[in-house]
Amino acid sequence: MADQASRLREQMSQWIQAQQLHRDAPPEGDEAHAGVLSAPVFAVMSGKGGVGKSNLCVNLALAFAEDEMRVLVIDADTGFADVEILFDSTPLLTLCDVVAGASMEEALLATRPHVDLLAGGSGRCFDGIGEDGWARLLRAIARVSARYAWVLVDCAPGVHALAERMLKFGATPICVVTPEPTAITDGYALLKWMHVKNLGAEPWLVVNRAKSKAEADDTASRLVDAAERFLKMRVVYAGWIRDDPAVVKSVMARRPLLQLSPGSPAASNYRQLARWIRACGQTFGGDAGAKGAAR
Ligand SMILES: Nc1ncnc2c1ncn2[C@@H]1O[C@H](COP(=O)(O)OP(=O)(O)OP(=O)(O)O)[C@@H](O)[C@H]1O
Ligand SMILES: [Mg+2]
Repeated sequence: MADQASRLREQMSQWIQAQQLHRDAPPEGDEAHAGVLSAPVFAVMSGKGGVGKSNLCVNLALAFAEDEMRVLVIDADTGFADVEILFDSTPLLTLCDVVAGASMEEALLATRPHVDLLAGGSGRCFDGIGEDGWARLLRAIARVSARYAWVLVDCAPGVHALAERMLKFGATPICVVTPEPTAITDGYALLKWMHVKNLGAEPWLVVNRAKSKAEADDTASRLVDAAERFLKMRVVYAGWIRDDPAVVKSVMARRPLLQLSPGSPAASNYRQLARWIRACGQTFGGDAGAKGAAR
């Protein structure tokens, strides 16, 4: 427990220092004109697809909202966006429209109390985003981040320009894996990509669909140990989510798990992870995690 608390402090300290550096010396390129993030931003990523990123974003957002904290969920899986389906919402404007010049404020959709969504634009943005589009998007995210306690970016699986831009922009990567060997192997490849590209110095790790805490811990330690040994990279094991049929039911019902089955085992795991992340903000005593509280 003491070890976990010191890890939290260290992590948050680094985040705040990184933000300070960012303020003092904005990076070169588009990001230099994109403003500064005013809230912790997490890029939820995976090597393998279908491991539970979108459900993690949605339910983590609702767990923060239960504590009256405002959250922005960005569906960054452009082309194959589906977070709006999990929320059963119908966006009029999406990230693709913001890239094309639409107002971010108009594109934000209030899906639930304290939870806003920037939808991804299913079936659109297949051709990638030009430099002007990146500048517009990053500037808009930086501007609205001041209104939120947390920003959760649901990324497409694998490696791609959007994740790279978000990590360079200061987002903390959360790498999601399951205990399946294919997901672990692809998760390691994702960590290696971050290492080679010098992105996301200390990624966080979440193990989803574990049958037990022991299985989750074992999965996490394999990745944490391999990253430390072969990449000299520190990976922070943030938490785990149980394999729970209630998640599948919630997807079929288009109602987030925390609303459909608030007492289910996975719902309590999502809440525990939210508390862990929140503790990062509070333990350090910074304003991260406290800001954006709903009034
Ligand atoms: N904790 C869980 N317990 C049981 N089933 C789960 C759990 N998490 C996710 N699932 C199942 O996995 C499916 C895929 O989840 P989700 O859409 O969140 O993954 P994803 O990583 O976002 O996928 P993609 O890479 O395609 O974006 C869900 O529809 C659900 O059926
Ligand atoms: Mg997804």
